[in-house]
Amino acid sequence: MSAKILDGKLIAAEMRREIAADVAALKARGVTPGLGVLLVGDNPASRSYVTGKEQACAEAGMFSQETGLPATATREEILAVVRQFNGDAKIHGILVQLPLPDSRIEQEVIAAIDPDKDVDGFHPTNVGRMVVGLPAFLPCTPHGVLQMLKRSGIRASGKHVVIVGRSNIVGRPLANLLSMKNELGNATVTMCHTGTPDIGAFTRQADIVIAAAGRPGTITADMIREGAVVVDVGVNRVPDATKKSGFRLVGDVDFPAVSQKASAITPVPGGVGPMTITMLLFNTVWSAKRSMK
Ligand code: GUN
Repeated sequence: MSAKILDGKLIAAEMRREIAADVAALKARGVTPGLGVLLVGDNPASRSYVTGKEQACAEAGMFSQETGLPATATREEILAVVRQFNGDAKIHGILVQLPLPDSRIEQEVIAAIDPDKDVDGFHPTNVGRMVVGLPAFLPCTPHGVLQMLKRSGIRASGKHVVIVGRSNIVGRPLANLLSMKNELGNATVTMCHTGTPDIGAFTRQADIVIAAAGRPGTITADMIREGAVVVDVGVNRVPDATKKSGFRLVGDVDFPAVSQKASAITPVPGGVGPMTITMLLFNTVWSAKRSMK
């Protein structure tokens, strides 16, 4: 079997048209949704993500403002930028690009973001609200995965979903959302991680496999049941001398082999990535709407 390709660019474009229409309506009422972006240091992957997010804002008619700090910035300097964004009425959403050069202060910086502007959905208030099913900013990659499945006609309800990876950004919130009793969830969820001795023993039982381990080649064809749906959240740079940049992007899944066995699969690039950015726009517009109430 050759898998159906779940085209994230196409689904994201459809959602971004809906978002742009919302932005136009808000602007007509005098409010331009605004995103404040903080980038600390010069990690090339982070630079590239931030540029993609800012371009997407501009294309949707939104406003974005970036503050850059050197990798040597102090905790106080970083917190000062967050506080300035918190107090700026033009900014409805705050994005502190992770990882920070000093990962030890990440939780403190996230906790300093006004939960009402936390469009990444990383603040403990929003994480807690999400877990108990209260309205909250949902983290962008997990929400993007759910929207992608929904808009591709793939229902998670009643299925066995195996997630590989337990990060705060992807694996853990996805496990939460997919196990909820609602339209996008209601799945039986298993989470595997680096402490799981035989990940394949679990993924072979899955109707849907979600790879979010951050390591190329994590999911090979022998780990996938014939006809399963495979969602690849991984974004890994591997050296490639034939590319001008010197690298190419690959996911966590061995795409050529797995796509012969799966019924549907997301590519990298062009799968989950564009959906993540789209959900950031979605959250920022939602925040702008709430600020008017
Ligand atoms: N780094 C990797 N993914 C993300 C994300 O979704 N948001 C932020 N702020 N940083 C990230």
